[in-house]
Amino acid sequence: MTASTASARPPGPLARWYATRGRHDLPWRAARDRWPVLVAEVMLHQTQVSRVRPVWEAFIDRFPTPEATAATPLGAVLRVWGRLGYPRRARFLWLAAHRIVAEGWPADLTELPGVGRYTAGAVAAQADGIDSAAVDVNIRRVLERVCGRRLGDREADAEMRRVGAPLRGRDRLLALMDLGALVCRPRAPRCGDCPLQRRCRSRGPLPPDRGRRQASYAGSLRQRRGQVLARLRSARRVAVAELDPEALDSLVTDGLAVRTGPLARLP
Ligand code: ADE
Repeated sequence: MTASTASARPPGPLARWYATRGRHDLPWRAARDRWPVLVAEVMLHQTQVSRVRPVWEAFIDRFPTPEATAATPLGAVLRVWGRLGYPRRARFLWLAAHRIVAEGWPADLTELPGVGRYTAGAVAAQADGIDSAAVDVNIRRVLERVCGRRLGDREADAEMRRVGAPLRGRDRLLALMDLGALVCRPRAPRCGDCPLQRRCRSRGPLPPDRGRRQASYAGSLRQRRGQVLARLRSARRVAVAELDPEALDSLVTDGLAVRTGPLARLP
């Protein structure tokens, strides 16, 4: 690991912690090209690292470039995506690959389908060496606890630069992300192991926001869509009559399934 720090300032506790405790062995961290980094960031959104790892490896093996991805039907991408969840992300990647092949990478990565501010900033920091601030949920939690209050988006960007200094770009992003995942965890944070403890205002969770509870997965449309997609992955064609009609309808609307008469299939 080479910590990219500003000038000759001493590394500081966060950089020292990251050098020894950071998750440097995650496979996508070895990538410096935009495509594998983008694929990792899209997969890691709302999905655990342990679930993403095998799927990312299989995906990059099969679709190492936008060209390889765009040259295949969406159904093949959905098959490799498997049970990772939120399959609209797979379609967005496939659409992004088409756009990149047709027009090249846009200067503003948020022009790609499914790419928001965080993902654009994270790809720029990791693949292009740009000193962008990119705040995901883990990083936001770290920053809000250090500051002892909730932060708006612009404030969070500024705090990321301040709290992460003297680290910059890629190392700042990954150090804060790893700290959020390993130490400043949502519940039971390990404040005794935290390199930011001395400057942290809250040293533990902030009072919860009201009305932030996640809907349960069991019985949800999301679960039923997952079950229909699993059937469609397992066969070339499946009888519509055997599938949950509401879940199939919503997959067709999202471009993730095709219905022809009495049969349904992957696109
Ligand atoms: N490494 C690079 N981006 C990551 C992310 N979003 N989550 C976990 N590890 C990562």
